Amino acid sequence: MIRRAEVADHPWIIATGAEAYRELGDYTRILPSWLEQPGVLAWIDQDLQGRGRGFAMLGFYLDDPNARPPEVRPPEVGSGVVADLLALAILPGFQNKGLGTKLLLHVIDVAERVAPSSHISSLRLTVAEINVGAQRLYARNGFRIVDGSATYDRGQRALRMARALKTTP
Ligand SMILES: CC(C)(COP(=O)(O)OP(=O)(O)OC[C@H]1O[C@@H](n2cnc3c(N)ncnc32)[C@H](O)[C@@H]1OP(=O)(O)O)[C@@H](O)C(=O)NCCC(=O)NCCS
Repeated sequence: MIRRAEVADHPWIIATGAEAYRELGDYTRILPSWLEQPGVLAWIDQDLQGRGRGFAMLGFYLDDPNARPPEVRPPEVGSGVVADLLALAILPGFQNKGLGTKLLLHVIDVAERVAPSSHISSLRLTVAEINVGAQRLYARNGFRIVDGSATYDRGQRALRMARALKTTP
């Protein structure tokens, strides 16, 4: 079951995300800074006992590139509201069961619902170049590579991907 994350879930999200992204940077620092921003929403996938299996985080930003975390800073300078899938992670023991797809589809659905009123035309994300499994998941769900030469904080090569959103209801 997917539900909106509450403040009480933040420590679990930070621990789970920091573990999932430990190669990419200090996410024990980055995730809390994202979670405290008003335009950032998070969801948790939980089992029937209420235990978290994974989470997704979506950020809506005014497109001032300098005001955004470096990891999600777009290559182009523009204006308006943008939507970024900031994080998607499933605990290792629950991967390859379709849960990542379900969370991703949930985030896409939310972004599509607010797109017309917010004039958001695409949902974007950054993924490590070596993370081909995640890239397959994103490609299967409509994301295309828009920049093949991005980098993370620690210099790992990354791809920026984007998926068009319908801007008419
Ligand atoms: C990337 C990630 C979120 C994917 O989550 P997931 O729950 O494993 O994703 P899914 O199960 O929906 O899809 C993964 C694969 O399992 C397959 N699958 C889905 N349901 C399945 C099932 N019931 N039985 C067998 N395989 C299944 C999918 O077809 C897919 O196959 P593919 O590897 O050939 O593309 C997860 O691996 C993860 O958290 N990784 C670490 C963090 C990370 O890399 N995050 C993304 C970068 S931002």
